[in-house]
Amino acid sequence: MKIAIINGPNLNLLGVREPSIYGNEGFENYLKTIQAKYGDEIEISYFQSNHEGAIIDELHRIGFEYDGIVLNAGAYTHTSIAIADAISAITTPVVEVHISNVHKREEFRHHSMISRVCLGVIAGFGLDSYRLAIEALKNK
Ligand code: DQA
Repeated sequence: MKIAIINGPNLNLLGVREPSIYGNEGFENYLKTIQAKYGDEIEISYFQSNHEGAIIDELHRIGFEYDGIVLNAGAYTHTSIAIADAISAITTPVVEVHISNVHKREEFRHHSMISRVCLGVIAGFGLDSYRLAIEALKNK
């Protein structure tokens, strides 16, 4: 099984960025932990970009081949019709993920442009949100 994790803007700063909201662990470190956990059972690849178009290009590149995509689109979640259209265009199921519970935060984070085209949404469990999304794709 092949699953890709795609992280959007500012998520390259995990571990440094607002640790009270996003925690102290960098993503590269967490990635190694989950890659080791799933071993040969699930091949987990990773892509991060701060650029909307680059995220769309990556969705197009892998979205007809992979078994699942775990997408944390960061702030583009709340604004990007283009990312929503890219998710609709591909055949690989996408799970929307957020580290923080966006519904406990500012009003502008309560609306997602992408939820309606995703398989499901996982938010608020810290970095464990990514593992929960992988479990959801695995059990699909
Ligand atoms: C986030 C929540 C978004 O509102 C925010 O813009 C992010 C991270 C999360 O993982 O909690 O960049 O997607």
